[in-house]
Amino acid sequence: MADPIENMTDWNQLKAMLDKKADETTGTKIDEAALLKHLHSRVKGQDTILQDVAKLIRLQAAKKQKDKPIANLLFLGPTGTGKTELAKAIAEYLFKDENAMLRFDCSELSGPESKNRLIGMPAGYISSEQGGQLTRPVMANPRRLILFDEIEKAYPPVFDLFLQLLGEGRLTEQGSGKVVNYTQCLFILTSNAHAEAIGKIQAEMTDYHEMLNAVKGELAEAKVFRPEILGRIDRVYVFRPLAGMVVAEIALLKISKLAREYGLEIEFVAPELIIRALMANEKVSRFGIRELERILADLFANQFVEAKEAGAKRVRVEVDEGNVRVTPAPNPASAS
Ligand SMILES: Nc1ncnc2c1ncn2[C@@H]1O[C@H](COP(=O)(O)OP(=O)(O)OP(=O)(O)O)[C@@H](O)[C@H]1O
Ligand SMILES: [Mg+2]
Repeated sequence: MADPIENMTDWNQLKAMLDKKADETTGTKIDEAALLKHLHSRVKGQDTILQDVAKLIRLQAAKKQKDKPIANLLFLGPTGTGKTELAKAIAEYLFKDENAMLRFDCSELSGPESKNRLIGMPAGYISSEQGGQLTRPVMANPRRLILFDEIEKAYPPVFDLFLQLLGEGRLTEQGSGKVVNYTQCLFILTSNAHAEAIGKIQAEMTDYHEMLNAVKGELAEAKVFRPEILGRIDRVYVFRPLAGMVVAEIALLKISKLAREYGLEIEFVAPELIIRALMANEKVSRFGIRELERILADLFANQFVEAKEAGAKRVRVEVDEGNVRVTPAPNPASAS
């Protein structure tokens, strides 16, 4: 007698669909060269780190068995050197959206209420049905980059959550009791602990890998993190201070970003103007290039608006008797 279930569906189609689903939830193929190119387009002067990150992500994402997050990374190094920028660039490439990044400032997680904030109020409390800030967004979209800034400032019991998160890639939300899966997430932790000692090691050692080992030794010896936390981190990266041409390159990147915001493409920027912006930045922010965007807006925004209003699409940014002059450039597509 025929099996009664035999004709009830299209088994071939069903199998193909299940196989596809299994592929989607297990190994993901990442194009390492394309990822690296994307990271390079946004983060300058940290090439060794970018190469290693791209490779690690490809290898980790390809794993079929997922019993921990895609990767747990620790970013160290001076302020304004591209740590957050790299996190955003990774999120943008992997999850097609830099807003797939969830960011927590651990200096705001330093009190006893922070655990409930992250994983929700226990059942019975008002607002327990709202869930936690670390659990709800991941229930809604399990593919996320989760950034914890200044990790060393977190309230100690929050570290127990980190152990579970980084180790098993799972957390239980209080209140609802739902288990949230983080195995499609990538975690990035940043820290400023022992920044001075780390900066000194960095300045003294030229070989990246030697320097990295010395930094890890320093972190372990100074007991900055519990050894179980360090043990769950796949890679530690120490970002280099930015200087010289790298800063100029970032300035150019930001000028063209500003121009794009006004609907303009840049063909040329006079080097004097880049130097002028860098010097103005140095004056106001001795540490890093945080002020650069504002300075560039002060220098160029007005002229960009005027050029746009005059109908320009591509522009040259030059100096004319000390003043910034933005002039239309021929459109390469229409130039004959
Ligand atoms: N290496 C870099 N390449 C390109 N842009 C950079 C780089 N470093 C910093 N920037 C720019 O400077 C600004 C600050 O950088 P970012 O937020 O990445 O600093 P950070 O290293 O996270 O510092 P902090 O430790 O203070 O959080 C950003 O607008 C970013 O675009
Ligand atoms: Mg940052």
